[in-house]
Amino acid sequence: MGLNYYQIKKNVLRARKLVIRGTNTAGSGHPGGSFSMAEILGCLFNKYLKFDPKNPQWEDRDRLVLSKGHAAPGLFSNMAVAGYFPESELDTLRKFGSKLQGHPDLKCPGVEFCGGSLGTGLSYSVGIALAGKIDSKDYHVYTIMGDGESDEGQVWEAAMTAAKYKVDNLTAFLDRNFIQQDSYTEKIMPLDKKLESDNLSEMWKDASRWKTGDKWRAFGWNVIEIDGHRVEQIDSAIAKANATKGVPTIIISRTIKGKSVEHMEDNPAWHGKAPDTDVVPIINMELDSQFMIAPSIIAGDMTNLENEVKRCVSGRADYIHLDVMDGQFVPNKTFDHTKIKELRPLTVIPFDSHLMINDPVKHVRDYIDAGSDIITVHAEVTDASSFGEIHDILKQNQVGVGFAINPDTELPEWFYNFIPSLDQLIVMSVVPGKSGQKYIEETHDKMARLNVILKEHNFSGYIEADGGVNLENIGSVFADGARAFVGGGAIIGQQDVRDAIRDFRNEVLKSRRGLLLDKANELGGTELVKKWIGLHVVGEKKEEIKKIAQERGYL
Ligand code: DX5
Ligand code: ZN
Repeated sequence: MGLNYYQIKKNVLRARKLVIRGTNTAGSGHPGGSFSMAEILGCLFNKYLKFDPKNPQWEDRDRLVLSKGHAAPGLFSNMAVAGYFPESELDTLRKFGSKLQGHPDLKCPGVEFCGGSLGTGLSYSVGIALAGKIDSKDYHVYTIMGDGESDEGQVWEAAMTAAKYKVDNLTAFLDRNFIQQDSYTEKIMPLDKKLESDNLSEMWKDASRWKTGDKWRAFGWNVIEIDGHRVEQIDSAIAKANATKGVPTIIISRTIKGKSVEHMEDNPAWHGKAPDTDVVPIINMELDSQFMIAPSIIAGDMTNLENEVKRCVSGRADYIHLDVMDGQFVPNKTFDHTKIKELRPLTVIPFDSHLMINDPVKHVRDYIDAGSDIITVHAEVTDASSFGEIHDILKQNQVGVGFAINPDTELPEWFYNFIPSLDQLIVMSVVPGKSGQKYIEETHDKMARLNVILKEHNFSGYIEADGGVNLENIGSVFADGARAFVGGGAIIGQQDVRDAIRDFRNEVLKSRRGLLLDKANELGGTELVKKWIGLHVVGEKKEEIKKIAQERGYL
């Protein structure tokens, strides 16, 4: 069964937008801590939690305890997406009589615990986990705590108790975003090894100094440390935790407070403040434009693809783009599902399998079994019936559905019905067959035409730009609407993959910042442009964005 990566990402985005909607409407609330745990909740609600929104008290349900109760908007938005109540309910957040209060309240069906007085959720979780064992129930208890919250003594009493009673049906998450209330945890009560630098907002980037895990190990817990915004890492950690017997597990999740909205990220000011109405459309546009970088390994040493995958992992790629060529659909032959199966154990990073093969419907199951997270087949070798079959098999196996068109292929009309459930559209910007080619400039106009069709047919997936993407053109390809970027020659072909991916990200970031300034200017002229820039107070962002605004003539 696949990771269901695309469905999780889609629902995480919906939930983040509901947090913005709810806190803005309420005029108060906690977006920062809701966003740092957004992917954790997304994985739980969309893959692991056993629950029935129609029967919230179902006795065999898994229990989710939000110990850091102030992040209630994050919980409520996921509950809305999961079907406990309509999304419009978030407009009643913190209103008298609403079931969605500032902190979780048992008046809201599906809420397990009145979090808010920090430090108490783990004790409660140990209790219900023990009860489950005594009653021979097989439900699992998941608890999310804040890192600042773990300053509370009761957390450690509960930690000792859980270890003593071997409460292995309990998995805790530590939302390690390094910020509590109005400053950085390491300034208030350090949980990690002393930091040399003062720039604490960079703390989370160097896990080598991490010692939080040692505290939990000393209390007898199984500890897993992950990047708390990587869906694939959260997924694999939960699976490992659920398989670990005789000891409770804590998943220490390195996160960013305010993640996905640049001006909120790493900024203590957004612990408990609501966004203003005039910037909400710009924030939503920023949330809609998260992007992924996908190195294409065939641009590397074809005799040592294992090493090419390792270079992608150390380079922190979002996906790994696997170009399968059969020597018939394209003259070149690269590898098939057997190689993908060999590469799979090397990493949990999603495998983005691009099948440049004839008769894909005959082979698609092999690529599912090999461990692909998304499989893309070509328009030139499918029709409504064969693609329909491929679509259904992929959906049944929770693998992402991709469709690719060559430079001289328009989106076939028979395909329009599939657009609403498509996860990825690869728009080839080279003639398929090898890496290292030049980007075909006509692709820009083609993307404009495609965006009209995709919008008309409720496309909610990602456009992946594939072929000849580099530092010079990636900004304009992003502006065209691409949100996933394949890099063969421009990434794998480079000496240092990590630097190349970082440069790709920075170029996309620059382009995105420009588009957000365009939106600010469209909505509110220079005044809103200045307000938007002024929100970016952490690090160098304000100066960088101001420069882009000047280049665009807004200042
Ligand atoms: C071409 C492949 C592309 C190619 C990308 O048929 O589908 O993924 O490997 O490599 P660059 O980025 O070098 O064009
Ligand atoms: Zn490709």
